[in-house]
Amino acid sequence: MNCCIRGAVTVEENSKECIWENTKLMLNQIINENNINTDDIISIIFTCTRDLDTAYPAVAARELGIVDASLMCVQELYVKGSLEMCVRASVTVETEKKQKDMKHIYLKGAQKLRPDIVKKSKTEAVAIDGPAGSGKSTVAKLIAKELGYIYADTGAMYRAVGLYCIKNGIDIENDTEIIKALPLINIDLEFVNGLQKIILNGSDVTDEIRTQPAARAASKVAAISEVRVMLVDMQKKIAEKNKVVMDGRDIGTNVLTNARVKIYLDAAVEERAKRRCNELKEKGIAFDYDNVIEEIVKRDENDKNRKVNPLKIADDAEVIDTTGMTIEQVKNKIMDIIRSK
Ligand code: DC
Repeated sequence: MNCCIRGAVTVEENSKECIWENTKLMLNQIINENNINTDDIISIIFTCTRDLDTAYPAVAARELGIVDASLMCVQELYVKGSLEMCVRASVTVETEKKQKDMKHIYLKGAQKLRPDIVKKSKTEAVAIDGPAGSGKSTVAKLIAKELGYIYADTGAMYRAVGLYCIKNGIDIENDTEIIKALPLINIDLEFVNGLQKIILNGSDVTDEIRTQPAARAASKVAAISEVRVMLVDMQKKIAEKNKVVMDGRDIGTNVLTNARVKIYLDAAVEERAKRRCNELKEKGIAFDYDNVIEEIVKRDENDKNRKVNPLKIADDAEVIDTTGMTIEQVKNKIMDIIRSK
């Protein structure tokens, strides 16, 4: 049976790159949210508002591997007062599902075209991103408890891969070795009272992954595309099966792009270092403030500048600077945002 999926996205400027990037974002979400393959797509009609060059969306579709579908690009007539700089798509797919089950995707400024659909299609998840020490995990646990959701700490999964490398003498500078080891790494997450335990090849490593060497190794392995593909797939499956508060670096931009609530937490680097020192002190682990701050700056650099899924603010995320705020204040602010969505 054939069904039709609608999509729309606004773009920031009339450039080839910008139209490609946004069209790919929209098509990827259409494919992911509806669980279809590129081969299932029969045809796509793209339309662009008159302020955009109309040929580019089709090129973006071909680049995504949509090769057999027939594509058509059309320029819209001008309608006074209507949304500008917008690419729309009507995607016809072959599927077992019914038309009423199709998820239509409206992104960025185009969300205002169909607020009813946008609200209905969101994943019941809270995505929290931010740099090391911004308070994500502490606050995410509290929010999960309050909402009755599970808490998934994706950093712990990268740490588990890093720990595996350390324990098995794999050089963390050697991507090829790490990629070769991936089939041997089995990570299981168990949720006990809503909190996550991390099991690496049968052993509980929940505490062991918290050391500085594991953090350093995590930051290295997190830059490898194959590692990310493996872990992101697990993370998406967790969110499919559970209502979740998930924290990390790319949750809002890559893992749960359709989350109902997206938060980006930030704080001054000195404050983040102080928080990390307090945590270490509480755990009785020796530390040196200058080392801690240096480590945080290095990890920020790795996380923000890597090629695959770098740490960045999702367009639709709410940014909270937690410098000088208590955990309780941050939690209340996020709960207010959640209630308003
Ligand atoms: O939040 P954390 O310190 O436990 O994260 C460990 C490392 O894993 C950190 O350097 C960034 C990386 N990471 C990532 O790249 N993507 C995520 N979603 C979560 C963590």
